[in-house]
Formats: sequence, structure tokens, C-alpha cells
Amino acid sequence: MSKELILSIESSCDDSSIAITDINTLELVYHKKISQELQHSMYGGVVPELAARLHVEALPKILEECKEFFPLLKAIAVTNAPGLSVTLMEGVTMAKALSISLNLPLIAVNHLKGHIYSLFIEKQEVLPMTILLVSGGHTQIIEAKSLNDMNIIASTMDDSFGESFDKVAKMMGLGYPGGPVVQEYGLKGDENRFDFPVPLRQSPLIQFSYSGLKNAVRMQIEKLENQEGGITNQDKYDVCASFQKTAVSHIMQKLKKQFKKVVPENFAIVGGASANIHLRTQIEELCNKYKTNLHLSELKYCSDNAAMIGRVAVEQYKQNDFVNVNEIDVQTRLK
Ligand code: KG4
Ligand code: ZN
Repeated sequence: MSKELILSIESSCDDSSIAITDINTLELVYHKKISQELQHSMYGGVVPELAARLHVEALPKILEECKEFFPLLKAIAVTNAPGLSVTLMEGVTMAKALSISLNLPLIAVNHLKGHIYSLFIEKQEVLPMTILLVSGGHTQIIEAKSLNDMNIIASTMDDSFGESFDKVAKMMGLGYPGGPVVQEYGLKGDENRFDFPVPLRQSPLIQFSYSGLKNAVRMQIEKLENQEGGITNQDKYDVCASFQKTAVSHIMQKLKKQFKKVVPENFAIVGGASANIHLRTQIEELCNKYKTNLHLSELKYCSDNAAMIGRVAVEQYKQNDFVNVNEIDVQTRLK
């Protein structure tokens, strides 16, 4: 039997990516991603208009490379929510054009489900599972019973975990994305030098907030900049280490509360910021303590990519979950 394939497109933020997944074997036949991190770095964050323009350049280039698979395609899938509307639109427009010209059904994929299914690339799914999703746009605890039965049980009231790293990096001129550089600077710093307040420490609620911590860090940086000689490299290392310790403590305090309520049999961390080593180590300890199975997606699939979108699309294809080309819409936020 010849292969039956799905082509998937991801453009919800600053990564242009296309994947081709085998519906029957889950094999990732093709996968490419062009990241725009460098182009956004000088602005200290993603500039939506620039991101959209770069997708217009990158997506057709990638598509050229997978033309040989077109005869075997059974469907076209695309991320349509949540994300930046102008960048989502680029992927959706390409997907619509392919769907019409190749006469193939169209599948609209939720980006957050994609992050969850990054755990199951080339593998069968393991559900139910409790998931911590930490990325540039999201900080959520999700209860996933099945692809169609997922509940967000905690989310952030303001900034996300990854975003707070991006903003702290921006304050010190360390470029974008902030996560990797703050983690690296933190290695050389003293995490006990600055005593930043752990957000919502007294609150019994399981929810997240990063704007207060961000402001506390901003005030500390301003103080250091105003000292004689200005802010030193060692100051920056110490700010990064102390900030990271607090940012991770906040997540851990809330997760411990959640585990006290219900001990999950399966737990996972997904999203670009799940690459954070401190977070990973402390979650490993928590899961060991409660004898919970911990699932981690491979580092290469933690950040945005089309392989995870294709993996969700395989399930939607099997459920005949298609969308009309005239009805697919982009959504910046989920209801
Ligand atoms: O999932 P992702 O690639 O894009 C979104 O959907 O947002 O996540 C990117 C985010 C950025 O905010 C980046 O700073 C953060 O993940 N990140 C990290 C680390 N590596 C990436 N945050 C903390 N520690 C890291 N090691
Ligand atoms: Zn993402």
C-alpha cells in the first residue's frame, strides 16, 4: 500500500515550519523549520508585521522541498489558533490554496493541542495526562483526557513564564529569546543575591502571575544601573540567577498544590520554555516523590514546529474533523 500523508503548516509566531506525517505509521516523512529569532533579536521581542513578512518568504521555500510528496497527500493541516493573527493568516492562506488546488480536505489545528502532541511524535498517545504548558504565550496546567476532552485548570493572569524571561533579557539588552540566555547567565550568578518576591505565594488559588516579579526585577536593574560604574556583568548574572530561581519557585509551589489535590498518573511538561533545566529538574523530583510517570518531549520538538501540528492532524483526520476552506478562521486567543 502506498503511503497516506498529511502536510501540516505552523506559523503562529516566529517559526515557519512544514511537516509531512504518515497517517498510518506516524512516521515523520519530512520536517523543516526556519526560525526568525535572529531577525527579532534586535527588537527584544517578536514584531508581528516583520514575522508575517518573513513567513511569506520562508513558507514557499520550504514547500518547494516537499513537492515530491504531493501525490501521496490525503489532507492539508494548519495551525489556526491561538497566535498572532497576521502570522497565523500566512499559514492559513497557504493551506487554503493547497487545499483548493490539490483538492484535499483541510484540517484546522489548535496550537496548544500541538504542544501537547509534541509528546507523541512518531509514537502512540498516552492519555489521560496532566500537562504543564510553558511557552512564550502560555503558562497553563491542562488536564487532557483525550484529544477532544481537554480542560485548562490553571493559567496566567498576565505575562507567561517564557515571556517573563524574554522581558528580563530585554531589560538588560541580552536579546531575544530570553529563556536560553537568562538560563546561561544564571549559571554564573548567585541565585540568593536578590530576594525577589515569589508571586501569589499566599494565595490558595492555583494560578500564575509574572508581571509583579517582572516589575521587581526591573526596579532592581534600575538600581544597579544607577550605581557608580553602572551595572556589571556579574550583576547581570546574579539578576538572572535570582529571577530564574523565583520564576521556577512560583511554578513549583502551584504544582505542588495541584499534586496535593490530585496525584496524576502521567504528567508532562511541554512548550518552548520546558527546555528550562531548573524547571525540568524540580519537576523530575516532584514526579519521583509522587511516583508519577513524567513525559518530556524531545528538545527539538519543545519549541514551535509543524511536526506536532501534523501529529494532531492525524488524529483529526481519523475523526473526519475537517473544516471548510470558506469557514476556517484565525483566532488570537482561545475562548
Ligand atoms: O513554544 P515556543 O517556542 O513559542 C511559543 O509558542 O511561545 O516558546 C518560546 C518561549 C520564549 O519565551 C523563550 O524565551 C522560552 O520559550 N524559552 C525558555 C527557555 N528556552 C526557551 N524559557 C526559560 N528557560 C529556557 N531554557
Ligand atoms: Zn508555541
